[in-house]
Amino acid sequence: MRPLAVLFLFLMYLLATHPDVQQKLHKEIDATFPNKATPTYDALAQMEYLDMVMNESLRLFPIAGRLERFCKKDVEVNGVFIPKGTVVLVPSFALHQDPTYWPEPEEFRPERFSKENKDSINPYIYTPFGTGPRNCIGMRFAIMNMKIAIVRVLQNFSFKPCKETQIPVELDFQGIIQPKKPIVLKAEVRDGTVSGA
Ligand code: HEM
Repeated sequence: MRPLAVLFLFLMYLLATHPDVQQKLHKEIDATFPNKATPTYDALAQMEYLDMVMNESLRLFPIAGRLERFCKKDVEVNGVFIPKGTVVLVPSFALHQDPTYWPEPEEFRPERFSKENKDSINPYIYTPFGTGPRNCIGMRFAIMNMKIAIVRVLQNFSFKPCKETQIPVELDFQGIIQPKKPIVLKAEVRDGTVSGA
């Protein structure tokens, strides 16, 4: 499955299993784009709650899982000697779940990324798109694409778990992080009409 599709599915799963968050996001979307208006770049960039929900979803499901760096020369970092030629792995998934940095890390809480809280987040602990000069070159493109898709879909539908929904979702860590089994949810049309491409 493609990374953006996987991310989208994880996010819909989180919304379906957290109706309070979904309701709040529906509210923000309806207020920003009345009558299912077409999303615009500027308005999307202003949507605080959408951004919080996306960031928190990427914390729980950082699909890349880990970062890798190849050591080009002998170096010592914080007392640890790393010889030339070593591949150093940075375990993003584990760091995103570390209770030292995230109280009750298994909980889906978009408020961790609120305006008041987000400055306290360590950019070397939260790395869904990597960090430094070799971070993800497609980050802004991916975020904007995801936001458009989320808004378009949620303008028309709401999501609920159904008896086939696996809770909690079991993860497959080979390659990109993705669900082991397909995520199945119940989609309901919000007001009897579906619009937008
Ligand atoms: C939500 C979707 C995506 C996620 C979560 C993601 C995540 C990542 C991560 C974690 C890295 C490694 C960064 C590092 O080592 O510091 C990376 C690298 C990269 N990504 Fe993405 N990515 C996504 C979408 C995209 C898209 C849409 C593109 C292209 C349009 C893209 C192009 C790249 C490239 C070219 C690199 C290598 C950068 C380098 O080595 O300098 N990514 N991505």
